[in-house]
Amino acid sequence: MEKLRFCVLAFSLLEFYVTAREEYMSAIGDPGMRRDSLRVAIEAWNQCNEVGEEVAGFGSPRMADCFDVHNSTSQVKLLHMVDERDNKLGVSNGSFGGINASNADVYAAKKEIYLGDKCHVQDNPRPWQFWMIMVKSGNMDTLAATCPENGKKSMPFPPESGFPCFGHGCMNMPLIYHNYTDLRGDNDSRLKGSFYGTWDLDANQISKAAMSNSTSYFNITWEKEIGKGGWVFHHFFKTSSNYPWLMLYLRSDATEGYSGGYHYETRGMSKIVPKSPDFKVKFRLEVKQGGGPNSQFYLMDIGGCWKNNGKPCDGNAITDVTRYSEMIINPETKSWCTPESLKLCPPYHCISNGTKIHRTDKENYPYGAYHLWCAPGNAEHVEEPYTPCDPYSNPQAQEILQILPHPVWGEYGYPTKKGGGWIGDPRTWELDVGRLSQALYFYQDPGTKPAERHWPSIDLGTGIYISSDQVAEWIVSDFDIVVPKLRTILE
Ligand SMILES: *[C@@H]1O[C@H](CO)[C@@H](O)[C@H](O)[C@H]1NC(C)=O
Ligand SMILES: *[C@@H]1O[C@H](CO)[C@@H](O)[C@H](O)[C@H]1NC(C)=O
Ligand SMILES: *[C@@H]1O[C@H](CO)[C@@H](O)[C@H](O)[C@H]1NC(C)=O
Ligand SMILES: *[C@@H]1O[C@H](CO)[C@@H](O)[C@H](O)[C@H]1NC(C)=O
Ligand SMILES: *[C@@H]1O[C@H](CO)[C@@H](O)[C@H](O)[C@H]1NC(C)=O
Ligand SMILES: *[C@@H]1O[C@H](CO)[C@@H](O)[C@H](O)[C@H]1NC(C)=O
Ligand SMILES: *[C@@H]1O[C@H](CO)[C@@H](O)[C@H](O)[C@H]1NC(C)=O
Ligand SMILES: *[C@@H]1O[C@H](CO)[C@@H](O)[C@H](O)[C@H]1NC(C)=O
Repeated sequence: MEKLRFCVLAFSLLEFYVTAREEYMSAIGDPGMRRDSLRVAIEAWNQCNEVGEEVAGFGSPRMADCFDVHNSTSQVKLLHMVDERDNKLGVSNGSFGGINASNADVYAAKKEIYLGDKCHVQDNPRPWQFWMIMVKSGNMDTLAATCPENGKKSMPFPPESGFPCFGHGCMNMPLIYHNYTDLRGDNDSRLKGSFYGTWDLDANQISKAAMSNSTSYFNITWEKEIGKGGWVFHHFFKTSSNYPWLMLYLRSDATEGYSGGYHYETRGMSKIVPKSPDFKVKFRLEVKQGGGPNSQFYLMDIGGCWKNNGKPCDGNAITDVTRYSEMIINPETKSWCTPESLKLCPPYHCISNGTKIHRTDKENYPYGAYHLWCAPGNAEHVEEPYTPCDPYSNPQAQEILQILPHPVWGEYGYPTKKGGGWIGDPRTWELDVGRLSQALYFYQDPGTKPAERHWPSIDLGTGIYISSDQVAEWIVSDFDIVVPKLRTILE
């Protein structure tokens, strides 16, 4: 019974009261993406969520597009808070702006805070800064050993097919270009801006990179009619043979503290960090191009961080563990968790009424509901059999639980059938991510108090895993995270 209690199923009187009254409030700075005055930023990561080396002339890979719309005079004006000089800042600029960092990794983290200070919007219960667009390349130079292994210093090892690298320098940051948001249209009423770029440093003409099969490319465009509707974020990206593993997400990160996958303070949009089981995520998603068979398209990706003893993370990469759960909606993604491969199934499937089904219960366990589960590399009491997660792709150890459309997720508002929400099926979702994430299995040391599950990163997007010349394209709008009003007031 000891292990069973980690499938926590709280049903407190308070929760009941709130559910009965159904009073929710937004947890993010711009509920539903409706505010004309936008705040958006971009960050680039290498395989272990760091920078390594900046691209000469492009500065540290953190940039922002933040402005207020001023319409007091007859002519509408945009007041930008971050200029080209800020966006181009890099480690060679020393302590300009009060940024003080000894290397490119630390510089990027500090620059994010610098940009956050420029963009921040006063609000209750605390200020917020920006949406975060994340681009990441999965290339890893195994011989360089720059990525730690489960948070500890790693040793060089020979190249492996699971870690693409075309040779020295394969972990470079992308070239990132920026079209500042400006006014368009006949009556200057349309706002539009974008970030775009490529990892191919020799792509001297970015417009060629966009069209050519042999170069990587991404663009993210945001558009809105002043005073009407909401922002529409259009995402596009393409892999190449040199950069066959790329990721692009739109994130609502915590406005302070450690977000999932980081070991330093971040800035973001979630002025209240959602906590299981009491939150919902709403958005509209239209997938135009899927990214091929190895595209892990996340209808929802949630990231949190707690130690194996259930205590919150504190930035100590050796004992911190990032925890991720994702619903992959690419219908080509198969369930790797099967009765023959139990090591890729979470030990238990938990039903919301409290029933737990062990993965050896072939009659009742919903194998098809799981793509895979992998255990934290630093966990000491994992039930056999298991597979540890990739030890390199985060600054600390990680645990990943990936789910697939299946009837068992229907009660949380998630798709129940393969193909739900995929190309040709644009939908507005209201996902009970809070209740679902409370029911999911995550490893904890025996006898420790169950972790409070906080989710400082809530994202949408895709990672195309090791396949060249694949294209993904999708549109996100109306994004919001809501939490019960009463809980927030009582806290
Ligand atoms: C100016 O902006 C405010 C706030 O967004 C809005 O309420 C108002 O209608 C706008 N005025 C004009 C003339 O567009
Ligand atoms: C930062 O460094 C770059 C490259 O040396 C330089 O072009 C730029 O002017 C510097 N920016 C500031 C604000 O000093
Ligand atoms: C920058 O950091 C170094 C080393 O931590 C410290 O000696 C120096 O005073 C700092 N400078 C500023 C401007 O904070
Ligand atoms: C500006 O033009 C667009 C497209 O023609 C129209 O939808 C919008 O209502 C106009 N806005 C204003 C403020 O006149
Ligand atoms: C950026 O602006 C340039 C110049 O107006 C334009 O040619 C290009 O298409 C824009 N790119 C994106 C991704 O918006
Ligand atoms: C983004 O890139 C794609 C592919 O090149 C292109 O079709 C699209 O027009 C680009 N978006 C913008 C706004 O330039
Ligand atoms: C890119 O590759 C696709 C599929 O192989 C092909 O149809 C297309 O013509 C190629 N485009 C270019 C510009 O080479
Ligand atoms: C929980 O639900 C399952 C499936 O609907 C059912 O078989 C089981 O009896 C229920 N358990 C309780 C305690 O209600």
